[in-house]
Amino acid sequence: MAMRSHYCGLVTEALMGQTVTLSGWVNRRRDHGGVIFIDLRDREGYVQVVCDPDRAEMFKTAEGVRNEFCVQVKGLVRARPEGTTNDSLKSGKIEVLCHELNVLNPSVTPPFQMDDDNLSETTRLTHRVMDLRRPHMQRNMMLRYKTAIQVRNFLDKEGFIDIETPMLGKSTPEGARDYLVPSRVHDGQFFALPQSPQLYKQMLMVAGYDRYYQITKCFRDEDLRADRQPEFTQIDCETSFLDEEEIRAIFQRMITEVFQTQLGVDLGEFPIMTYQEAAHRFGSDKPDLRVKLEFTELTDVMKDVDFKVFSGAANMKGGRVVALRVPGGSAENGGISRGEIDAYTEFVKIYGAKGLAYIRVNELAKGRDGLQSPIVKNIHDAALAEVLKRSGAQDGDLLFFGADKEKIVNDAIGALRIKIGHSEFGKKNGLFENRWAPLWVVDFPMFEHDEEEDRWTAVHHPFTSPKDGHEDLMDTDPGKCLAKAYDMVLNGWELGGGSVRIHRADVQSKVFTALKITPEDAQAKFGYLLDALQYGAPPHGGLAFGLDRLITLMTGAESIRDVIAFPKTQRAQDLLTQAPSPVDEKQLRELHIRLRNPDAVKAN
Ligand code: AMO
Ligand code: AMP
Repeated sequence: MAMRSHYCGLVTEALMGQTVTLSGWVNRRRDHGGVIFIDLRDREGYVQVVCDPDRAEMFKTAEGVRNEFCVQVKGLVRARPEGTTNDSLKSGKIEVLCHELNVLNPSVTPPFQMDDDNLSETTRLTHRVMDLRRPHMQRNMMLRYKTAIQVRNFLDKEGFIDIETPMLGKSTPEGARDYLVPSRVHDGQFFALPQSPQLYKQMLMVAGYDRYYQITKCFRDEDLRADRQPEFTQIDCETSFLDEEEIRAIFQRMITEVFQTQLGVDLGEFPIMTYQEAAHRFGSDKPDLRVKLEFTELTDVMKDVDFKVFSGAANMKGGRVVALRVPGGSAENGGISRGEIDAYTEFVKIYGAKGLAYIRVNELAKGRDGLQSPIVKNIHDAALAEVLKRSGAQDGDLLFFGADKEKIVNDAIGALRIKIGHSEFGKKNGLFENRWAPLWVVDFPMFEHDEEEDRWTAVHHPFTSPKDGHEDLMDTDPGKCLAKAYDMVLNGWELGGGSVRIHRADVQSKVFTALKITPEDAQAKFGYLLDALQYGAPPHGGLAFGLDRLITLMTGAESIRDVIAFPKTQRAQDLLTQAPSPVDEKQLRELHIRLRNPDAVKAN
């Protein structure tokens, strides 16, 4: 007898009157005095199995099964009695009258209730196998698979071919720390795991493959967050002979089709916003456009006010002063309380802000008396009038202020904007629109200035092409030089990013000069790419999407770890297999490695 004729979750009325053989796990066993019900579960869903005592042997087995036993059921599909159907299940109109029940394998008591939604992440990751058995995780994995295969089919139709690139290679410059792999054969030498296939895909363009893609792992040793893993998966793409707009169009279509097919969602138009506009209005290069709050620029207004925090920032090189107007934030009922303002003040400090000035706009008609604030006394009439005018303040509003270096203001007030938008207050007051909000952010700067080290660094990576006509700015005014770089942003997450690349060696040298990378250094690090660029390299460009992030957004999961079968914790550990772990002395010796701090190994 076949071990299975149908998936549990797919037994429907169509099979009424037929005998089926099902194999799966006992989700729940209910003893209704005389009749035992088993909810049997497999990857496709649940089915209700009824065990009557008139088949004594089977019934005895049923009495012995427990949750998560792996069992086989042979039985008759019949209609559920009236009033007991369950519309939320595909199999909700039927049940299977059990003729034969075999325990394929019992289970010890599971480490947690399978339907417990409040498990700690440590518990879930330690017992990942059982966690992965849970229906919502299976749905996530299934959507991930379906999306990946749709992406492959899409790219295949568009003429992209999948070419694998090495995991053991040389360091690639995506800006994170490398994961290193020691070489046994070459004493003292290391491979780096790829932070991305960036340089390989560019070399494939020079090699004439024209359109490349790969769904592949990337490795970055960086601080982890809800949207970051040390090893993650990119949908990595590159094409020759297409310009920025053409590249964006293909991949916008890809994402649009994925959402349409997998979720039935129409993403609609993707607004195109310059980096400058995004930073100016939202303090972010990945603005969450669902939040309907915007910055009010006040740097020019605050230059001569008595409040030193504001005038100081307004006159500082690279300083910025902004307001964030929160409609209804000072309303008598349901406004933002003093305690909440204090909490927000602490919150913005995470981003380096030194405080969070505010004005409660109680009644504009009363002039200064209608404003309640720790700072207005030090802001002269003209500036105050301009603040109210520019922000469009109305009675009952709350204005927050940020004044500091531009980056701190953008990060702090940008994060505050999101925080308030997503808060209960924000949702109640229509500051948050529940929709999908995609956009392209374009025209990124080529370089950003690293204050600590006083040097320019590449915003994207050093192989990104400057905008036409911006080449000379690399020598004269690097901060003004824009790049042919673009990011796709969805609901405030950077979903993907890429650029048109430099395909000429002379332009590439200029970038290295601006980055203070000497020709010798460039040769040592990327000589192989520079060499390739000399052989008639075609104009080319591309981008990469974070598959994990894409699926996280599509599933609405809380963290990227919910869409990866075996993820790492925030501390970059695998709790299931207990990796990383110490290795024995012999292995270290073969790799020519001596530990600097052997005691630390034990302490960990
Ligand atoms: P970038 O570094 O922007 O570009 O990465 C592309 C996309 O990969 C995802 N991503 C991550 N996802 C999870 N965890 C991480 N630690 C992580 N880091 C990045 C993001 C991001 O948008 N070679 C270039 C692409 C190119 O220019 O073609 C690159 O890697 O979704
Ligand atoms: P102080 O004069 O330091 O008591 O600050 C007066 C108000 O300004 C307080 O509400 C502070 O939270 C706020 N504040 C201080 N520094 C800044 C800053 N850099 N940006 C915005 N508000 C600030």
